[in-house]
Amino acid sequence: MVLFTVNGERISTNVNPSTPLLWFLRDNLQLTGTKYGCGMALCGACTVHVDGNPIRSCSTPLSAVAGKKITTIEVIGKTPVGKKVQEAWLAEDVVQCGYCQSGQIMSAAALLAKNKAPTDADIDVAMSGNICRCGTYNRVRAAIKVAASGKGSPAPAAAPAKKPAKA
Ligand code: FES
Ligand code: FES
Repeated sequence: MVLFTVNGERISTNVNPSTPLLWFLRDNLQLTGTKYGCGMALCGACTVHVDGNPIRSCSTPLSAVAGKKITTIEVIGKTPVGKKVQEAWLAEDVVQCGYCQSGQIMSAAALLAKNKAPTDADIDVAMSGNICRCGTYNRVRAAIKVAASGKGSPAPAAAPAKKPAKA
């Protein structure tokens, strides 16, 4: 039996401990926001947090997360830093097809939780394992900077000017 916590919920399971965490999240807990890309720890689509650190859930067996706290994309927006990241993603219109974006957001949130003012080099290192086939890298970087600045909320749309009433 393996015991751990997922998004604040205590989990105990008799699933084979060699099962990749990604499959357990998706198939047993129906947390399908975390994506399968390469299955070889090469693309970052499957990134989740384990005790606050970004890891590749496709290549992490359940046995490796015993006793640990796992956070997924489904709840990252409930954390202060995750909320800022998601607001910045919207403000910068980062997403294209979206497939890689759960992983991108999880890596960005982990970075900003530890480094409130990352340099370009810090961002490059933290995000280097997250591949985007749509090439959203520049917008990802811009959004991380917006989130770091605390100005992530999209501006409300301006109300259209009213035409003066005819006399
Ligand atoms: S699916 Fe895990 S790194 Fe690609
Ligand atoms: S937005 Fe399409 S793969 Fe990244």
